[in-house]
Amino acid sequence: MVSASVLSADMLNLEKEIKRIEDGGIEMLHFDVMDGIFVNNITYGLPVLEQVRKSTDLILDVHLMITDPLKYVRRFAECGADYISFHIESESNVSETIEAIKKSGAKPAVAIKPATPAESVFEYLDRLSMVLVMTVEPGFGGQSFIPETVEKVRIIRGKAEELGLDIRVEVDGGINSETAVCTSAAGADVLVSGSYLFSAENMAEAVGRLRRTDI
Ligand code: DX5
Ligand code: ZN
Repeated sequence: MVSASVLSADMLNLEKEIKRIEDGGIEMLHFDVMDGIFVNNITYGLPVLEQVRKSTDLILDVHLMITDPLKYVRRFAECGADYISFHIESESNVSETIEAIKKSGAKPAVAIKPATPAESVFEYLDRLSMVLVMTVEPGFGGQSFIPETVEKVRIIRGKAEELGLDIRVEVDGGINSETAVCTSAAGADVLVSGSYLFSAENMAEAVGRLRRTDI
């Protein structure tokens, strides 16, 4: 499955950009929320998500790069998030945040930065719908893929299989037609793509190039 990161979209024409995502046959819209503290960048938040929800039936995949996700997950769910990913490195209690997301009716996911070991998510796996493995340092679109992160995808997919869990593994950052190959082979089944998709002249064709490897 492909999740289009609107961080690289033309924000003044977001409705048209959403239409381009839908017409490209993409299933998910990836919505990056940054608070300027957890990462060195500030993006958009609740009111924008609410408007996006009104304009599309795409699966809304919200990636919270914020210091205290527990405080906000219910409101992101109310604004229409289907999946909510939060960082294990944030200040919120991980178990409580997972429970709060579930209670609010959204699907919980834990995100890990490149330096965080794959094993750190093991104790939560049976309560998660997805694990988000960052393949760049969170904060900005358009960065280069970090190859060492592929092994973490393999480790998490292996553990999920060992435990018999039906869980998604998402990769985010520097995903293009080349890096989609190794990450999919390692067990990623949600490919986030921002700059690669939005810089393509023909988004449907770019999606096709990602999908050749997508499982
Ligand atoms: C980075 C964000 C990503 C970003 C990916 O912190 O989490 O979702 O938009 O952008 P690309 O695909 O350009 O690396
Ligand atoms: Zn993201």
